[in-house]
Amino acid sequence: MKILVTGAAGFIGFHLVKRLLAAGHDVLGMDDLNAYYNPQLKWDRLAQLGIKRPFTSGKTTESAHDPGFAFVKASVTDAHAVKRVFGDCGFDKVCQLAAQAGVRYGSENPGAYVQCNLVGFFNVLQTAKDSACKHFVYASSSSVYGASNRVPSDVSQPTDKPLSLYAATKKSNELLAHVYSNLYHLPTTGLRFFTVYGPWGRPDMAYFSFADKIQKGSPIPVFNHGALSRDMTYIDDVVEATYRILSREPKSEYGIYNIGKGEPVGLTKLIETLEEVLGKRAIKEMKPMQPGDVYQTRAHVDRLVKDYGYKPETPLKLGVQHFVDWYLTYHQLR
Ligand SMILES: NC(=O)c1ccc[n+]([C@@H]2O[C@H](COP(=O)([O-])OP(=O)(O)OC[C@H]3O[C@@H](n4cnc5c(N)ncnc54)[C@H](O)[C@@H]3O)[C@@H](O)[C@H]2O)c1
Repeated sequence: MKILVTGAAGFIGFHLVKRLLAAGHDVLGMDDLNAYYNPQLKWDRLAQLGIKRPFTSGKTTESAHDPGFAFVKASVTDAHAVKRVFGDCGFDKVCQLAAQAGVRYGSENPGAYVQCNLVGFFNVLQTAKDSACKHFVYASSSSVYGASNRVPSDVSQPTDKPLSLYAATKKSNELLAHVYSNLYHLPTTGLRFFTVYGPWGRPDMAYFSFADKIQKGSPIPVFNHGALSRDMTYIDDVVEATYRILSREPKSEYGIYNIGKGEPVGLTKLIETLEEVLGKRAIKEMKPMQPGDVYQTRAHVDRLVKDYGYKPETPLKLGVQHFVDWYLTYHQLR
């Protein structure tokens, strides 16, 4: 199949592209390579896929080592650029991962969420609908559960009380997708990812910045005095679930799935695991709860198991070990 992956230089996009290429699909990656976190990491991920700098914005660059992959540096916020990327033939499937990620950045730069997650999402959705796209798959988030205190969170429970701008934009994506499925019969599937971690991960996420700080001997901020838990889900499991959904026929015209392991990991347990694997003690700085944060996340994954025969299973210690191995090698710390 011919597949468009937006956000292809990002953490999940990069791993998904590798999986799609290994299965023999033709993939076009799109990303604006913005500086929300160090773009060098995005360039390095692309280099792994055979895309070498310099790239000219808007021009397609072929992979040096995989004939199935090409990349275009462009923003989903630019409707003309999105149309050019789709060209005359379009794609069999689209995986819309490009987003302003992260919850806390919302107070610093709210416009980034509106531009990328609303305007950009709309541009890709609309263009997919205008082309012959057979399935529009997109990243939603566990954050849509917001103030709902029912755990494990089930896709059928209400999600009308988001606690952050990020969560509100992700919920809006699901609503927009519903309209396009309903009005235009474009099959859409939203993936509510739960705290994804692993090699080539995002430096703004807690597990990554904790590893960095433990390694450097700097104090780590422990929000809500450690009384928080997250459904930590290993990247390979997330990619496997996404791959199954993307590569098979859509199960319904409008679908939503939780993509999580279903086991919450306490903040203290995460820090202990990192300490053990890194062989260093953390300096903990206890902090109050952050506005916009949720206390716990935990996925109910029965729908994923029933429809796709898959459940994320990678144990935390193993996943953290893989992450730390990559982290130390990438930063030349051994
Ligand atoms: N990692 C997680 O734990 C997690 C959890 C829930 C949801 N998600 C969602 O999954 C998706 C992928 O997340 P990730 O962790 O790989 O994040 P990421 O930031 O590593 O990847 C997103 C990519 O999108 C690109 N991008 C941002 N704005 C763009 C624009 N306007 N045009 C084109 N590209 C743009 C970025 O440059 C980045 O490379 C996002 O939609 C995110 O909101 C991730």
